Amino acid sequence: MSDRELLEGAEKAYLNAYAPYSHFRVGAALLCESGEVYTDCNVENSSYGVSCCAERTALYKAVSEGERKFTAIAIACDGDEYPYPCGICRQALSEFGTDLRVIVGSGGEMKTFTLEELLPSGFSLMSGEQ
Ligand code: THU
Repeated sequence: MSDRELLEGAEKAYLNAYAPYSHFRVGAALLCESGEVYTDCNVENSSYGVSCCAERTALYKAVSEGERKFTAIAIACDGDEYPYPCGICRQALSEFGTDLRVIVGSGGEMKTFTLEELLPSGFSLMSGEQ
């Protein structure tokens, strides 16, 4: 699966976003070592703090299906800016390793980072096996 294909999955996913408050639709596509791809979107709530970002809904979907090893995540939105993952999502993803490649797309362009670059010296209680 190419980065471009993964990003296309994220672009499709944001079409299902439930974002009646921010009107900011985000989609994420998470590629697992197994080869499976889990896509998801942001889901907002009247009680704003209950809302969940696209990256975490995709991550939790994958983890709840038994996935633990992730290769890359692509993120897309319907805005003009690159949709960098928020701090909470960076921390959530880092639980499963910081080698993860993070692809952000906007207007047909892509930028790629490692999670380590986006969350240097992140917090972890995990010292060994995951
Ligand atoms: N959002 C994401 O889905 N991912 C991020 O990394 C940042 C923000 C969503 C949450 C909320 O539904 C909307 O974007 C505006 O903050």
